[in-house]
Amino acid sequence: MLPLAELHLHVEGTLEADLLVTLARRNDVPLPSYDPAELTARYANFGDLQAFLDVYYANLAVLRTEQDFHDLAAAYVTRAAAAGVRRAEIFCDPQTHLANGVPLEVVFGGLGAALAEARANGLSADLIVCFLRDLGGDAAEELLRQALPFREHFIGVGLDSAEVGWPPALFRRAYEMAAAEGLHRVAHAGEEGGPEYVREALDALGVERIDHGNRALEDADLVARLRDERVPLTVCPLSNVALKGVARIEEHPLPRMLELGLVATLNSDDPAYFGGGIDANVAAVRTSLGLTDDDLATLAANSFEAAFIGETDRARWLAEVAAWRAG
Ligand code: HPA
Ligand code: ZN
Repeated sequence: MLPLAELHLHVEGTLEADLLVTLARRNDVPLPSYDPAELTARYANFGDLQAFLDVYYANLAVLRTEQDFHDLAAAYVTRAAAAGVRRAEIFCDPQTHLANGVPLEVVFGGLGAALAEARANGLSADLIVCFLRDLGGDAAEELLRQALPFREHFIGVGLDSAEVGWPPALFRRAYEMAAAEGLHRVAHAGEEGGPEYVREALDALGVERIDHGNRALEDADLVARLRDERVPLTVCPLSNVALKGVARIEEHPLPRMLELGLVATLNSDDPAYFGGGIDANVAAVRTSLGLTDDDLATLAANSFEAAFIGETDRARWLAEVAAWRAG
């Protein structure tokens, strides 16, 4: 199996319908349906990012206790390890849980316990705390201040949720605070927003990777910069099709990104909602985009180049990819 790092994965987006129903019953939280098949069927036709986010945030009301957060992350890391993931850099959205009345102790306690178990079982995993861009820059700074006492639980900050109308520069001060704390910095950009969102994430926020980045392809100068500076893009093909950024999987720009020499990586984003995990994304790009084993090995090598890991792990996993490529 292809060894990979998964670098664009929202832990809240791994909440499968079965677990959603279990947690709703456990915590006495109402759902529109208690039939996992019916709930999953509702995910088949999101009109855009916001239509998805409305369902995603509503479902998170079922997460109440440390045990809930543990069970959510534990289920993901088990599936990821079985799919060949060696390293997972996992986004979480604490502002959503705070708004639901769940304190950060509970969020980090539960997620942290699951990741400690994952590490004991040989999967390398860390958290990246995301700012919800539609809550604005001041709220991002406030979240970071509240999260710093839990600094041991996360390695970086990210920026997610509704993109258009919430340009990266609004978050300059929050990212400056994060940099001063020695945290890694990434941001969603170019998912629905244009290339200017990608450029601004680089210039105003100093990000080390771009999450998605699809619309950067509309700007040749920006493409040259991403290529020359080897800025990784964490690309999520099934997500892009599910949220209508790309009309059909056959039209996904991932092959073009590789042709252009971009450091593209393959990721699942919100696997419970978009048709499956990293393995489903690998299958989709193989069968519908015609990517070869060699292309897949390049994506995997890119993922370890882009990961926030030490050089010993990087060399070890790149050697595994080279062995896989050699067959
Ligand atoms: N895009 C932006 N924000 C998100 C996503 C996404 O796909 N998933 C969870 N938050
Ligand atoms: Zn995402």
